[in-house]
Amino acid sequence: MNEEKLNELLGKMVTELGAAYIGASVILGDQLGLYKALAADDGLTSQQLAERTGTTERYIREWLSAQAASGYIDYEAANQTFHMTPEQAMVFANDDSPVIMTGGFYTLQSVYADVPRMAEAFRTGKGLGWGEHCNCLFCGVAKFFGPGYRANLVASWLPTLDGVVPKLQTGGKVADVGCGHGISTVLMAQAFPNSQFFGFDYHPASIEQARAFAKEQNVANVSFEVAAAKSYPGQNYDFVTCFDCLHDMGDPVGAAAHVRETLNSDGAWMIVEPMAQDDLANNLNPVGRIYYAASTMICLPTSLSQEVGLGLGAQAGEAKLRDVVTQGGFSRFRRATETPFNMILEARP
Ligand SMILES: C[S@@+](CC[C@H](N)C(=O)[O-])C[C@H]1O[C@@H](n2cnc3c(N)ncnc32)[C@H](O)[C@@H]1O
Repeated sequence: MNEEKLNELLGKMVTELGAAYIGASVILGDQLGLYKALAADDGLTSQQLAERTGTTERYIREWLSAQAASGYIDYEAANQTFHMTPEQAMVFANDDSPVIMTGGFYTLQSVYADVPRMAEAFRTGKGLGWGEHCNCLFCGVAKFFGPGYRANLVASWLPTLDGVVPKLQTGGKVADVGCGHGISTVLMAQAFPNSQFFGFDYHPASIEQARAFAKEQNVANVSFEVAAAKSYPGQNYDFVTCFDCLHDMGDPVGAAAHVRETLNSDGAWMIVEPMAQDDLANNLNPVGRIYYAASTMICLPTSLSQEVGLGLGAQAGEAKLRDVVTQGGFSRFRRATETPFNMILEARP
């Protein structure tokens, strides 16, 4: 036993436990409008923040102290006020910011709540379907992925695909498969009013949300339907997209074959997947850590709950994804672009 190494690990665990605890307070801060109220002012006491948000001072004082100890907000000891820097506001308060992080914490609520069911799944090998998780998983995914899609999808990702933007500008037929709450579908529909967008997901509650979102955004060239990736309706699509969902599917090869079947011969399939290297050793980093942990509790059980149950996992890597796509009948496959969190893959018939 090396005492120095033990102390190093224990030191790290102090940070880890703090992070695991503060997550719940981040959700409260978002839900109760605490970050937004703080960011809107130069500095507030706990009493002032409680008054502005219709909450109770004693709870707010504790919450503020936890946030300040986390470095999520700043504390001014001289006048006992709390405030947020512009950077902190971008991460916690501003919903339009490309780096707002609060959404990710909602999914944790569902992950922790699922521990008993996952212990059972570990023993039996059975899966846990997407719709069986608690509701905060779906809203958390939409809240967490939405800002990245808003920042990157239309401006950076689509232009890297061969001929897709001109096609969408003149008018194309697009399927967004595994669309969840339809954030990506609506974003594309808004950017390309001459094209027609069809969002599909096998989870009925997500499709309901997607329809409500499209209505709220007043977008007419989009519709949503409950359908599995292997059997969604329609033919002659010019463009098919899969955002962070191919690895969640039980039979991604079957899904790829259906995309191939429903895509025009000059069409393109964009697959957005979590950033990963092909081997475990190279994924042992902070981003890989988040994805492996999420995959254990969310992606893998979703896949194992479905037919075939291939269980790619969220860190499948490009080589395995290439196999899936080519087994589905696609002849060309490339990484079009990437961010620290995502690989943007393009497949062609
Ligand atoms: C991580 S979420 C991503 C949702 C959305 N694309 C986004 O980026 O916000 C994965 C989605 O895949 C859907 N899904 C999983 N397996 C599916 C299947 N076989 N067919 C259709 N949708 C599926 C789930 O219901 C869920 O909405």
